[in-house]
Amino acid sequence: MAREEKKVDYALSDTENEKKRLREQSRIIIETTRRVFALAGIEPGMRVLELGTGAGDVTILLSEMVGPTGEVVSLEKNPAIQESARKRVEAEGRGNVEFVCCDIASAEPGGVFDALAGRAVLMDIPSPEKVLAKLLKSVRSGGVVAFQEVDFTVRPEVIPPMPLMQKAWDLLYAAMEKSGTEMQMGFKLLPVFKRAGLPEPMMHMDAFIGGQASGGIDWFVSTIRSLVPMMEKLGIATAAEVDVDTLKDRLIGEYFAAGVRDGLGMSNTWISAWTRKG
Ligand SMILES: C[S@@+](CC[C@H](N)C(=O)[O-])C[C@H]1O[C@@H](n2cnc3c(N)ncnc32)[C@H](O)[C@@H]1O
Repeated sequence: MAREEKKVDYALSDTENEKKRLREQSRIIIETTRRVFALAGIEPGMRVLELGTGAGDVTILLSEMVGPTGEVVSLEKNPAIQESARKRVEAEGRGNVEFVCCDIASAEPGGVFDALAGRAVLMDIPSPEKVLAKLLKSVRSGGVVAFQEVDFTVRPEVIPPMPLMQKAWDLLYAAMEKSGTEMQMGFKLLPVFKRAGLPEPMMHMDAFIGGQASGGIDWFVSTIRSLVPMMEKLGIATAAEVDVDTLKDRLIGEYFAAGVRDGLGMSNTWISAWTRKG
């Protein structure tokens, strides 16, 4: 079945944990996102339409980059997670963000934007090229389009091999894939941009690499935790089989049980693409 005909469920369905997970994830990749947005041309004074608020990390980055004379309008369909982002933005005293709770696919943003941007969001949207083409009508000619998407084409590596970590990655792949997530959204940014009527984008790939102390294990375990409801729903594994509460200790145990003190892991990749509307 073609992806646009399939129902896509947001695989990371545990909202409470998802807030924490997205912040852990952002800590390890935010500087790559900042670099991409800067290369793309996001600058002070711009009015930016952001897709997929999540816990608000990209919203806050964009708010910083456009400054007090700019504005960010951020779209998100999950009211609980968007509310957590709103609280963060308010606590930081940012007056240049507007949150809109809606499905991106049917959004009707008001006014004209200087940029359209997002991270880890097109992968969950059926027919992203159609959605982009529609939203681009609200972007001025010469406006920036910049997205950073998760991509699972390159398998995450663990060196030396650690069977438990690899098994957990297999569960993550199964849950994401079976829930309808686009596993190659990063690489597909180029055809999606072109089908939306945009010029061919510039592209970069990033991945997180780190050892036990890097924070990568916490993000990885939180990611598995967010996926457990979907794993159960899709019959991939039960919560008891995953036993996420002990997973971190078991993963760390694997480093030491193997006598390995310098094991390290590489995450999935994040692929970015940016261009300007003709
Ligand atoms: C993986 S999170 C990424 C959040 C944020 N962009 C970041 O990088 O930290 C994706 C977010 O997009 C939202 N989302 C997915 N599909 C959506 C849709 N069709 N309409 C609105 N929001 C959507 C999800 O609810 C989720 O909060």
